[in-house]
Amino acid sequence: MSNENQKTNTAKVSPFLTSPLPEGTEQGQQTTKQYNLPRGVKNTGNVGDTTHFGFETVKTEDKEQKVAHVFHSVAKKYDIMNDVMSFGIHRLWKRFAINMSGVRRGQRVLDIAGGTGDLAKVFSREVGSTGHVVLSDINESMLNVGRDRLIDAGCTNVDFVLANAESLEPFEDNSFDLVTISFGLRNVTDKDAALASMYRVLKPGGRLLILEFSKPVFEPFSKLYDFYSFTALPVMGKIIANDSESYKYLAESIRMHPDQRTLKGMMENAGFENCDYNNLTGGIVAVHRGFKL
Ligand SMILES: C[S@@+](CC[C@H](N)C(=O)[O-])C[C@H]1O[C@@H](n2cnc3c(N)ncnc32)[C@H](O)[C@@H]1O
Repeated sequence: MSNENQKTNTAKVSPFLTSPLPEGTEQGQQTTKQYNLPRGVKNTGNVGDTTHFGFETVKTEDKEQKVAHVFHSVAKKYDIMNDVMSFGIHRLWKRFAINMSGVRRGQRVLDIAGGTGDLAKVFSREVGSTGHVVLSDINESMLNVGRDRLIDAGCTNVDFVLANAESLEPFEDNSFDLVTISFGLRNVTDKDAALASMYRVLKPGGRLLILEFSKPVFEPFSKLYDFYSFTALPVMGKIIANDSESYKYLAESIRMHPDQRTLKGMMENAGFENCDYNNLTGGIVAVHRGFKL
């Protein structure tokens, strides 16, 4: 067994990652501020046969295709864009989520919307040769990049499966110890259906981790964050991936995603118990966790 494989799940996470809680506030009970959306944009979720694609209202049946177009377009530049856009901090966010997962040797892990495989690569090492990881995504371009990367890294205990998070059709009930979705849920049209499917495929005693952009809790940064998101990101997208529209969608989709409390409520509605969340980098990102008892 290599030293790498013998590592236990004790990596330290930067203290700058998690925002301190106001005294007397339990983790998972933090107050959050809703974004001010541009005039005319309402975050009503899915209504009738319409939904939102960024700030655009689109037919529900069209969103999946539009999201697919974004990720087909960015797949090859996805990893470098992540590093540049987040100044590398997405690695710390992911490390924090992995530490919260409590993953152990021999376990079965499903990473949904796993794209280029950042999480699956670490889980592959953590579960070891007696465990199993499934890297799953709806998008073939993203999954191909992930598959090539993990095969090159020598991950032999990983399967690669095309699947829509809404149904998770290829997967049996009660079949995973851990289900994760990292920066994927906000792209899913029917998030309630996705949460119900995640619940279905988890074994009793299993846990779900959702790492996703969320609502910042620190108001003074909001102007800077807006400038960065709506002006700088599309410019970086244009320069690095020759695609400003996809990165405009990224900024808009973040604003339309349910805030920390709303998402926690959605998890509870799907049947998850003991749900809580941690804000990272002042709530720019949050990790939600829930259990199937
Ligand atoms: C921002 S990337 C995240 C990739 C990776 N999890 C990470 O953290 O770097 C979002 C991923 O969600 C996938 N996705 C979007 N809608 C999906 C759906 N309905 N079901 C499964 N995956 C979906 C996209 O194809 C894309 O790979």
